[in-house]
Amino acid sequence: MLIQVILGSTRPGRFGERATTWVVRHLEARGDMDVELVDLRDHPLPFFDQAPPARTLREYPTPEARRLGETVDRADGYVIVSPEYNHGYSAVLKNAMDHTFIEWTRKPVAFVGWGNVGGARAIEQLRLVVVEMEMAPLRHAVHVLPDVLVPALRSPEPFDPTLLDALEPKLTLLADDLLWWARALKTARDADPATRP
Ligand SMILES: Cc1cc2nc3c(=O)[nH]c(=O)nc-3n(C[C@H](O)[C@H](O)[C@H](O)COP(=O)(O)O)c2cc1C
Repeated sequence: MLIQVILGSTRPGRFGERATTWVVRHLEARGDMDVELVDLRDHPLPFFDQAPPARTLREYPTPEARRLGETVDRADGYVIVSPEYNHGYSAVLKNAMDHTFIEWTRKPVAFVGWGNVGGARAIEQLRLVVVEMEMAPLRHAVHVLPDVLVPALRSPEPFDPTLLDALEPKLTLLADDLLWWARALKTARDADPATRP
């Protein structure tokens, strides 16, 4: 199974990079999945201004949109690592999702967030949005609350990912569940290629 970890913040000094380092390290250490980091900084896209991808299905209007679409397409499941900005998730994440559609369909997604309430408000919004792409949003999530977040935010470079290890049991639950759904949905997609999105 190929699991992509999507880093949903792009601003300088982002905590998201630290959270993602920890997630990738944990998933790779399991040895039961292939892990790919997708940093949205590597996918600079204009604000979406094209025909709806839900209707045009993999007809990419620009090389940048194609590169993002083909990247998302190859995964069997996702961990979206999301900041919370003004009680929502990041605009860069929404913009990336609006440039694509079918590439995500019938695949599971789990979430990691941080902030005053562990990114819970952003994650709840993301769960609503991904249902429109017919994804399977998972219950298990990692919420980095201030007790763990503040020391991890303030720690100097290079970041020591063990600062987030108090949340390791939550990440293990998330990864176990994500892998189960990724396998189940891949089996179902492969069994019915005629309806492959
Ligand atoms: C524009 C903006 C809005 C924010 N709004 C919230 C918020 O609604 N809730 C929250 O818990 N933290 C909020 N914060 C603080 C972020 O949790 C904190 O800056 C975090 O590091 C953001 O993730 P990032 O560093 O990966 O961008 C906000 C930060 C920014 C820059």
